[in-house]
This record gives sequence, C-alpha cells and structure tokens, in this order.
Amino acid sequence: MMENTIFDCHLIDFDLHHSDRKGNLSVAENGANIPFDVKRVYYLYDVPGGASRGGHAHKALYQLIVAVSGSFSVTLDDGKNKRTFSLNRPYQGLLVVPGIWRDINDFSSGSVCLVLASEKYDESDYIRDYGAFIKD
Ligand code: TYD
Repeated sequence: MMENTIFDCHLIDFDLHHSDRKGNLSVAENGANIPFDVKRVYYLYDVPGGASRGGHAHKALYQLIVAVSGSFSVTLDDGKNKRTFSLNRPYQGLLVVPGIWRDINDFSSGSVCLVLASEKYDESDYIRDYGAFIKD
C-alpha cells in the first residue's frame, strides 16, 4: 500500500524561545517548521503507566507527536523495520508519516502527549488490524 518507511519519520526541533526568568516558548507553525497544515489537535493525558496507546496505522494522515509534559515512548513499525523514540522534550516533535504502525507506551505520571494532525478525525483512515497492515 504505502511506500513510506520508518526512515521517513524523524524528530523536528522547534525553536526554543528562552526567557531567563519567565520560562520557555516553542512554536509549531503551518508552512514554517512543520511539513503539513494542521487541521486537528488532540492530546492524551492521565494515561496509566502500564497502558499502551496507538496500536494502529493511518492511510493518509500525517502527525506530529509532542511530549509537552513528561515522557513516553513511540515505537514505529513499517512492516520491515522498527524504531523506538523516547520523547521527553517539549521543544521536539516526532513526525509520523502515513502507512506507519505506532505503539505508544511507558507514559510517565502526569505526561501529556500532544498530537498535531493533518486531517480531521476519520475512522476510515485507520488500519487497526496488524495482520492487514503487514499484508498491504
Ligand atoms: P484512537 O485514535 O484509537 O486513540 P489512541 O491511538 O490514542 O489509543 O482513538 C481513541 C478513541 O477516540 C476512538 O474511539 C476514536 C476517538 N477519537 C475521536 O473521536 N477523534 C479523534 O480526533 C481521535 C484521535 C480519536
């Protein structure tokens, strides 16, 4: 189905606007530092430490996954290769392109997983059956 591989997925560093006494500010902006326009934002929070999220691939959706607070692991799988990213920096986003299976685990207490997405929610864009994903 998809030609994309896990090697098309990578971390994107956002600018980190330091302010000595007032904290930091990072920006993701359409047409500037991310390779798609954002149509939807969602976030995972209060995820128990032992829980596994994700467990699916998307047919057309691009996503940028950010650990805006705390940490978690994202394992990407293209059917041939796997790679695990430990996300724990609010100024980095992991670009996940279409056609990649992802599992998200090891949520630290209080962590927040922010996802910027290129399309609105569409259940028909999901591949939730790993066997079907591998065959495609
Ligand atoms: P899902 O994408 O399977 O969650 P995760 O990959 O984080 O484990 O979505 C969980 C539920 O939430 C599912 O019933 C669909 C619903 N949902 C929406 O209604 N809109 C959305 O934008 C998202 C991401 C999920």
